[in-house]
Amino acid sequence: LFAGPVSFLKSAPTLEFIPDPTVPEVAFAGRSNVGKSSLLNALTNRNGLARTSNTPGRTQELNFFEVGEPMRLRLVDMPGYGFAEAPKDMVKRWRFLINDYLRGRQVLARAFVLIDSRHGIKPVDNDIMDMLDAAAVSYRVVMTKADKIKATDLEAVAARTAETIRKRAAAHPDLILTSSEKGMGIPELRAAVLEAIAT
Ligand code: GTP
Ligand code: MG
Repeated sequence: LFAGPVSFLKSAPTLEFIPDPTVPEVAFAGRSNVGKSSLLNALTNRNGLARTSNTPGRTQELNFFEVGEPMRLRLVDMPGYGFAEAPKDMVKRWRFLINDYLRGRQVLARAFVLIDSRHGIKPVDNDIMDMLDAAAVSYRVVMTKADKIKATDLEAVAARTAETIRKRAAAHPDLILTSSEKGMGIPELRAAVLEAIAT
C-alpha cells in the first residue's frame, strides 16, 4: 500500500472542514516536536509530504493525507500539544478539536501516540491517552527519535512506558520503537497501520 501514491488532501482547522468519512483513518498524536510529521514522511517514504520544523506548534490543524490508488486509507497528522509557550485559548481550541474528532469519527481505526524516547510519558501524554480511553479509540504507543539515546537507556524508557500503558483500557500492549532519521521501526509501523485497517 505504501509503495503506491500518497498525497496531501487538506488541512482542517475545525471539524467543519474534515473530509467525508468514506475510508478508514489512522491518526498520529503526540507532543509538539515529538516527530509526528517526520514519522509520517518516513512511513510513506515521502520526504516533505508533511511539513516538519524545529519550531514547536508548527502543525495546528488536522492534516489529512490519502494513501493508495484506489484510495484505501487516510493518515491524519494531528496538531502537537504541550508546548510551554502555547497561549491558553490555543490549548482550549486544541482540546475541543481533538476531543470532537476522537469521539465522533467512526472511520478512525486507530491512533498512534508518539512519545519521545528521551523523555518518556509526560502528564500531557496521559491527558491524550485519557481522551482516547474515554472515546474508546484503540491506540498504540510509538517511541520516536530512538537514534538520540543509547540502546540501554532506550530499553529502560521503553520498559517504563510499557508498564505505564498496561493499565490503560484502549492501549495496545506493545510499543513500536522508531527513528525516522535512521528508518528504524518503520516496517513495523507500516505493518501496524495495515493491521489497524484490515477488516
Ligand atoms: P509539531 O508539528 O510542532 O507538533 O511537531 P512534530 O511532532 O510534527 O515534529 P517534526 O516531525 O516536525 O520534528 C521535530 C524535529 O525533530 C525536527 O527538527 C525533526 O528533524 C526532528 N526529528 C524528528 N524525528 C526524528 C528522529 O527520528 N531522529 C532525530 N534525530 N530527529 C528527529
Ligand atoms: Mg508536525
